[in-house]
Formats: sequence, C-alpha cells, structure tokens
Amino acid sequence: MSYYSRIIGVGSGFPKGVMTNQDFEKFLDTTDEWIRTRTGIETRFIADRSKGETTVSLAELAVQSALKHAGVQGSDIDLIIMGTVTPDTVMPCVANQLQARIGAKRAFTFDLQAACSGFLYAMSIADLYIRSGTVRNALVVGGETLSSVTDYRDRSTCVLFGDGVGAAVLTRSEDDQHRIVATKLYSDGTYGDLLCIPHGYTKVPTYSAEYREDMHKIKMQGGEVFKLATRNMVEASKEILRENKLTTADVDFFIFHQANMRIIDLCMRTLNIPVEKTWLNVAKYGNTSAATLPVCLEEAWKAGKVKPGDLILMATFGGGLTWASSLVRL
Ligand code: ACO
Repeated sequence: MSYYSRIIGVGSGFPKGVMTNQDFEKFLDTTDEWIRTRTGIETRFIADRSKGETTVSLAELAVQSALKHAGVQGSDIDLIIMGTVTPDTVMPCVANQLQARIGAKRAFTFDLQAACSGFLYAMSIADLYIRSGTVRNALVVGGETLSSVTDYRDRSTCVLFGDGVGAAVLTRSEDDQHRIVATKLYSDGTYGDLLCIPHGYTKVPTYSAEYREDMHKIKMQGGEVFKLATRNMVEASKEILRENKLTTADVDFFIFHQANMRIIDLCMRTLNIPVEKTWLNVAKYGNTSAATLPVCLEEAWKAGKVKPGDLILMATFGGGLTWASSLVRL
C-alpha cells in the first residue's frame, strides 16, 4: 500500500500593527512612489513585542486557524516543523513552544533554518515522514518576525520586510489524486554573504567585544539577490515540471515567494504564465519570508481561486542561499 501526504488545512497569523510606505517617509530618505514602483509593497504588518506579539504567538494563531480549517485537534498531530530564522528563543525552539500551546503531546518537533525557503523545506521533510508511514498528521509552519532583525536605518532593506506566519496541516492518505506530488530543494552556500545576519549568534555573540547591534540585522546585496532569485525560481519551476513530465499548461495555479512584485512579474513572464493563474499579496504584507507561500495558499483557497484537485506549483527563494519548488495536487 502507498501512502501520500494531503494538505487538508491552512492558516495564517499576523500582528495587529500596520506600517505604511508613508510611515517610512517620516524618518527615512524614501518615498511611497519609490517603494511601490521598485517593490510593489504598500503596507506590512509589524509585531509589537510589548503586546506579546512574537514568532511563537503569530505561529500559534496560524496553527490554530489551520487546525480549524482541517478539522483536527492539536492532540492529533504527530510532527511539527517550523521554518524560521527569527525564533523567540533558540532553545526551546518555536516548534517545541507550539507543541505546548496546542497540546500536541505525542508530536516530535523541531525548527529548521532555510530562510524564505523554510516552508517548502519543512513540507518536504514532513512529506517523507508521512509517506514512510511513521507520521499520520503533520503541522508545517513557516514565518518570522523579521522586524526584529531589520535595520530601520537601511532604506534598501527595511521597506521590504514584514512579520507573519503561515501554516498547513498535512495528513496521510491513500488517495493519489490529492497529494504532494514532488518537492525539489536546492542550496548554494557560496552565495551566503549576499543575504545574511552577521552578528548575534556564536561567531559574534551579543556579549562579545566585537558585537555590533547594526550587524545583528539583515544585510543584503539587493541587485545580486534579485537576479539569482528570478533565475533560480524559474529554473526550479522548469526542473520540477520536466522531471514530472508536465508543462506549465498542466498547472492550474502558481504561487511564487512574495519578495518583490518585479521578481514575481519577471518569473511569470519568463514562464509565460497569465496573471489570473497566480496569487499576489506582497503589496499588503511585504516579504514575510517562510510565511509567504502558505499565506498565499490560504488566501487563494479561501477565495475559491484554487480548489481540491487543482495542480499548484510553488517556488521560493531565500538566504543561504536556498531555493525550492513544489507540485501539489490539492
Ligand atoms: N527609497 C529610495 N531610494 C532607495 C531606496 C528606498 N527605499 N532603497 C534604495 N534606494 C536607492 C539606492 O540607494 C540607489 O540609489 P543610487 O542610484 O543613488 O545609488 C537606487 O535607489 C537604486 O538602487 P538599486 O538597489 O539599484 O534598486 P533596485 O531597483 O535594485 O531595487 C531592491 C532595490 C528593491 C532591494 C531590489 O534590488 C530587490 O528587491 N532585490 C531583491 C530583494 C529580495 O527579494 N530579497 C529577498 C529575497 S530572499 C528573502 O525573501 C529573505
């Protein structure tokens, strides 16, 4: 008997506070017009730690909403994987804390770091456990409070990022008509310096003399990242289609990592995909890293743009460098 992983529920969690492009104009040498035309971003949600908004609290919102959508309880979950580079604490990890909050007593749990690719990396691991028969129900979660590692004096990065978490419930199924069809994961550590957080961990810990607060923030060579993001998401999409003997015409819906509208637009044009076949929300949320794919999936599903049986191609790209693509038959 063959087992497959089926996505049966999705959810998201965002902070209450919204930061607009006009808010940046008040303290930064930038304009709403520059941000909109260069990135497509208009607003982003920013966590308020003083009100208890953290990666864990946003993840709990996302997970509760995904469990409700799926019609399962925390106690039904066997595995929780959280993709994040902004955990509340490194130990315990976010997934451990989620386990406690939702009462997933029998689950085993861990975080993984693959930056914006965290959701597809986590989904691919959960899929392997489910197909092996070891796990029946898994929670795959991705997201961040990137505001905690954003330098609000650096206009070339701070306007891009937002906070939020997305989650999906995967379940074991014997029905090959609704399943994760394939996932391709990639990384290239030789480009690590293009997008990084240099200080704050073990190489330069916060208590060392060399520690600089401004180096405990995201550093990015935007132009290089832009080119690699576009090239790699296109190639990863083509490769997964080729390996599964499919073409873009066989795919009902496409979801690309929401980092910059120009990157998404270039990917869509290169792959010759019409805009009606994708979901865009970068204008509202900015780049929320590992959250963007599950949040798009949730919004598209709940809006009726995708329905069970549809074939969905997802592609992402992030720090590491990491990138990934996936084909899901919803
Ligand atoms: N407001 C006004 N001017 C700005 C701003 C700003 N917020 N930011 C940069 N500029 C200026 C620059 O200083 C530069 O000025 P100069 O010509 O006088 O030197 C000018 O605008 C052009 O800068 P570029 O960097 O060439 O602008 P570009 O069109 O490349 O856009 C951007 C910059 C938006 C960062 C783009 O490179 C980008 O989106 N890169 C990819 C970023 C990304 O997707 N990262 C995340 C992927 S991985 C993950 O999701 C974590």
